[in-house]
Amino acid sequence: MTRRKLVAGNWKMNGSLACLDELDGIAAAAAESPGVDVAVAVPFTLIAPAAQRVPALMIGAEDVHEADSGAHTGCVSAGMVREAGARFAIVGHSERRADQGETSHDAWAKAAAARRHGLTVIACCGETEAERNADRAERVVQAQIEKSVPDHADGSWFTLAYEPRWAIGTGRTPTLEDIQSIHAIARAKLRMLVGDAADGIRILYGGSVTGDNAAGILSCPDVDGALVGGASLTAAKFVPIIRAAAAL
Ligand code: 13P
Repeated sequence: MTRRKLVAGNWKMNGSLACLDELDGIAAAAAESPGVDVAVAVPFTLIAPAAQRVPALMIGAEDVHEADSGAHTGCVSAGMVREAGARFAIVGHSERRADQGETSHDAWAKAAAARRHGLTVIACCGETEAERNADRAERVVQAQIEKSVPDHADGSWFTLAYEPRWAIGTGRTPTLEDIQSIHAIARAKLRMLVGDAADGIRILYGGSVTGDNAAGILSCPDVDGALVGGASLTAAKFVPIIRAAAAL
């Protein structure tokens, strides 16, 4: 099965109205790369202005609450981000697991909430450095997938992202062999959970992806795109990653 490559940015807690200029160049590169899907998740406050500025670009949220509404001070629901113009949501990012104590079960509930409100989902998994050093990366990732992937996940709305925590923002990446190996294991786990639909679910790699390493990473057979943090903040750094995906 052919899976279209997806290059997704995650601005994390970065950006301002002035930074939305960067989206113009990103949207132009996306328009020149019709074979690649391009998306950018931005802070909640930037969703509406970003979606209005570049309507052709897929703008998303970096998180959503699992409930549709209610007494959850400071939280934002999937319906709210959808109304603001988001088309997708990231759930289960390792920074939310580390900073807010979120679990794989929370990611599952948030994915379901996003789905209820018509958003597509990028659900994250990935081991810590200690887990990798203890040879537990595969088991950790398999367990995270088992607990966070909704029953009826398929490629029309669900994407998995493998982001080893020790590779995020560090400039370090696993070897291409290690990336492919974990992605193949992740797909096998998806197959156990959702059957043949696993073939249509994209699995992105995230963690220190740059214009220099993107072509190699994106060439791995089970890597269907990239989830990019730091290098998504400017068009100058993000566009080469889009171009690398388009050139495959
Ligand atoms: P970096 O690309 O900055 O390593 O971040 C990856 C990430 O966490 C994307 O969600």
